[in-house]
Order: sequence, then C-alpha cells, then structure tokens
Amino acid sequence: MKQVIGMVMLVLAITGCQTRPQSALFDDLGGMTGIENIVDGFLVRLGSDPRIAAHFIDVDPVRFREKLIEQFCAESGGGCEYTGDSMKDSHAGMNVTHTDFNALVEDLIAAMEAEDVSVSAQNRLLKRLAPMSKDIIE
Ligand code: HEM
Repeated sequence: MKQVIGMVMLVLAITGCQTRPQSALFDDLGGMTGIENIVDGFLVRLGSDPRIAAHFIDVDPVRFREKLIEQFCAESGGGCEYTGDSMKDSHAGMNVTHTDFNALVEDLIAAMEAEDVSVSAQNRLLKRLAPMSKDIIE
C-alpha cells in the first residue's frame, strides 16, 4: 500500500499538480511570464507599425498592456479574469478595417515568434481571438 501511495505521489509530482486551473495553451504560451513578454513585444510592434500605429497614439499604455495580458491569459485558459471593456465598446467608432485587423494579427504573430511560441500554440490563440473581429471591424 505504501508503495502505491508513493507511486501516486510521484506521478502527481511529475505531472505537476496545479492549484489553479491552467490549460495546455496557457502553458504553451509560456505561462504568465510568456504572455507578458508576448504582449510587450506586441505593443512595441503596434506602436511602430506604420499601417496602424496612428490608432494607438492616445492609448493609455499601462491599461492597454494590463487588459491584453488579462485577455490572453483568460482566453488561453490560464485562469485570469478579463476585466476590460467589451471588444464592441472598446473599438466603437474607430473604423477598424479588415486590413487593420490583419496588420495587428501579423504583429501578434511576430511577437509570438520572437518568444519561440510554437506555430500550433500561435494558431490556437489566434483561433480564440478571430471571432472577436465581428465586434472590432466596422
Ligand atoms: C483580435 C484583435 C484585437 C484584440 C484581441 C484587441 C484587444 C483589445 C483590448 C483587450 C483592449 C483594451 C480594452 C480596455 O481598455 O478595456 C483594446 C483596446 C484598443 N484596441 Fe484593440 N484589439 C484587437 C484589434 C484591434 C485593432 C485591429 C485595432 C486598430 C488597428 C485596435 C485598436 C485598439 C485601441 C486604439 C484600443 C484602446 C481603446 C481605448 O483606450 O479607448 N484593436 N483592444
């Protein structure tokens, strides 16, 4: 019996018994540190992308960063709560086009590439974000 309990504990230790719910995607993005690094790289790219940078000139960078981190964490199953405005409200009146949206997605892909996120994990995050386009593009 002792040996069985020992084995069970060993398996739990190896597989990592998490105290908060986390998904494979959250882990594949590098956990919270990975998501923070992705968002930081993403923000730098958005701000220097001549196709869409103008949209972000008056944005509060601290809030935007915080909400994006929460959103990516929540969408990837990392157990965060997204506390920002809805995608419809936060993009209302911005006249975001399909071309703008695609440019932003390219910047996000580049930020994930820079953090060595696998293509599979990139696609899984993008798949979660893609349906938001209906609330963002006018
Ligand atoms: C999948 C695509 C997108 C996602 C997931 C996304 C996500 C977000 C999030 C989480 C916020 C913060 C909301 C808040 O402050 O409560 C935000 C705000 C904002 N987004 Fe997006 N966004 C996307 C596409 C775009 C595009 C294509 C543009 C323009 C080119 C854009 C421009 C902005 C701007 C300017 C703000 C700041 C609004 C403000 O502070 O009033 N977003 N977005």
